Amino acid sequence: MKHKVTTTVNGRKHEREVEPRLLLVHYLRDELGLTGTHIGCDTSQCGACTILVDGKAVKSCTMFAVQAEGKSLTTIEGMAKDGELHPIQQAFWDEHGLQCGYCTPGFIMAAAYLLDQNPNPTEDEIRKGLEGNLCRCTGYVNIVKAVQTAAKTMSTSSAKKATVTAGGN
Ligand code: FES
Ligand code: FES
Repeated sequence: MKHKVTTTVNGRKHEREVEPRLLLVHYLRDELGLTGTHIGCDTSQCGACTILVDGKAVKSCTMFAVQAEGKSLTTIEGMAKDGELHPIQQAFWDEHGLQCGYCTPGFIMAAAYLLDQNPNPTEDEIRKGLEGNLCRCTGYVNIVKAVQTAAKTMSTSSAKKATVTAGGN
């Protein structure tokens, strides 16, 4: 028997009737066509399927779609705004934080959560924050650099915004 699931994904509401056993990652990819969320393993180890669920990084292969009822989800497709890459996406590009790119959406979503929790992480904190994500290509050095660069860009742009707001008052 199918169950109705209502989610908001990247700001858009979706209603679907799904099998209770459907994994959230398959819901995103097969029901909603959001194939930027990847599947890299069947043991919940690789992190390629990482998304944000109510702002928290979650491996979407570890949840059933029905458990996402009423939740707000962000996938890699929701990161760029108005044709501009999110600063974390831009930093991965600038720092060569990817090779084949298969792991990249998961790393970017995990990094988004990490920087939300800790806007100025040390290298150790970045490595620890991303330890649930695996990359077969890069050796991780440039991924760490990308997160450091994104942290700098994001703190500069929020400082600028604060100055503009203060100046406007
Ligand atoms: S697909 Fe590997 S952790 Fe989800
Ligand atoms: S860039 Fe290929 S797996 Fe990470």
